[in-house]
Amino acid sequence: MENPMELSYKRLLDGNKAYSMSKKIDDPEYFKKLSLGQRPDYLWIGCSDSRVPANEVTNTESGEIFVHRNIANLVVHTDMNLLSVLEYALVHLGVKHVIVCGHYGCGGVRAAMSNNLHGFVDNWLRNIKDVYHKYEKVLNAIEDSDKRADRLTELNVIEQVRNLAKTTIVQQEWKKREVHLHGWVYGINSGLVTDLSVIHDGTEDIDKIYRYVI
Ligand code: CO
Repeated sequence: MENPMELSYKRLLDGNKAYSMSKKIDDPEYFKKLSLGQRPDYLWIGCSDSRVPANEVTNTESGEIFVHRNIANLVVHTDMNLLSVLEYALVHLGVKHVIVCGHYGCGGVRAAMSNNLHGFVDNWLRNIKDVYHKYEKVLNAIEDSDKRADRLTELNVIEQVRNLAKTTIVQQEWKKREVHLHGWVYGINSGLVTDLSVIHDGTEDIDKIYRYVI
């Protein structure tokens, strides 16, 4: 008799067969076309949260979005993983839009707001504590803790978009062509994205000390 653990992962393999089959029924050439290469227009930097899958919430197909996800959708200037994804997406794939998508009800944001110890992740979430610290007056003025978390979620996205603008990678690309940076927040309880409209199409939005002479 199979144990339930085995059955639970087999569900994914069965799901994969069904997925492959249905795609081929719609378009027999679907996978053949995908195998020729990718040319996505978008880079998605989102939270690892299982409820915010990039393609599903944007109704897009395989091949349309290059994806990087980490806990609380952070753009950390020393993160080799993020920087490698960013450079590859901009320089080699030529993506036109970089989207930082946070989400309301983010456990990472919640954890960063508290003084509790969660483990190694606290060192990662320190970046959000720094955002909190920067906007402490505004945030502390919000009495309701859910509303405060929502605002911190938005401010965190805005700061991560700024962090993108501060990278040498984005600034070098801006010298050559237009690249649009977007800050979005997804509502898990509505399925809808709020566009924070923090589009930085140049270095005007970041302080002088972060602007490189290129
Ligand atoms: Co999250």
